[in-house]
Amino acid sequence: MKRIRKAVIPVAGLGTRFLPATKAQPKEMLPLVDKPLIQYIVEEAVASGIEEIIFVTSSTKRAIEDHFDRAFELEYRLRQKGKKSELDQLQQISNMAKFCYVRQKSPKGLGHAIYTAQPLVGDEPFAVLLGDDIIDAKIPALKQMIAVYQKYGQVVLGCTKVAKSETHKYGIIDPLPVSDRLVKVKRIVEKPRAAQAPSQLAVTGRYVLTPEIFKILAKGRKGAGGEIQLTDALAVYFKNHPGYACVYQGDYYDCGSKLEFIKAIVRFSLKRPEFKKELKKYLKNI
Ligand code: G1P
Repeated sequence: MKRIRKAVIPVAGLGTRFLPATKAQPKEMLPLVDKPLIQYIVEEAVASGIEEIIFVTSSTKRAIEDHFDRAFELEYRLRQKGKKSELDQLQQISNMAKFCYVRQKSPKGLGHAIYTAQPLVGDEPFAVLLGDDIIDAKIPALKQMIAVYQKYGQVVLGCTKVAKSETHKYGIIDPLPVSDRLVKVKRIVEKPRAAQAPSQLAVTGRYVLTPEIFKILAKGRKGAGGEIQLTDALAVYFKNHPGYACVYQGDYYDCGSKLEFIKAIVRFSLKRPEFKKELKKYLKNI
């Protein structure tokens, strides 16, 4: 079985939900405490064994390329000032993995973004991580999923249970239970209303895919919102191939929603020893 070495991270979206914050900077660079969202995603991938990160970008996303590159002038200044720990932290970012970039020339949907990465992925299984979806877990969510892939050699989706009122925001699976945190996927539906949802198990921006998905995406069939959807390609895939969903252990934050993003900021800040006491006191007071 081939190892999962590469991860595709689509970052071409305009981030309109976060305007005006995203007028002149990518939404992926918004900070969760003091680290951009995208760095959490890359760190999860690297901690799961990924060696090569393929960003699918667009013209307004140069700040992401700069973030994962060296910053010579800043490094020079930090060295001069003797700020060793800041310097080490900065240098680690660009050394985490091999970073590659490909442009999605028009916003045709998530499925199209993944298809754009095909020349860099080649003929091997790969991971996909979406930049809005932050998963706080002891064992990285993707690592839990790769363990399932290593056992079965099939597509694995990362899932969590959401409220009925939330199914319209996610790809929802029709599950066949296998064991405690593992189900087989009978079917997947993109953003169904509660009444049509086959379950409350939502795909939260983590996928382990096989290159067969590219053949389906190549057909370019449009789905929800007139876009080429990854979920629709997976729906076709699951008609002829088995696949699994791992109900990972960890807390999920949908940072594509402002309220969830604010909750994530509070939760992540409370975990920091230097802020915990003061912040708790402050929150109680207000
Ligand atoms: C995308 C996918 C959806 C998935 C979600 C996770 O939707 O299309 O299936 O559940 O990400 O965040 P988006 O959030 O881009 O609308």
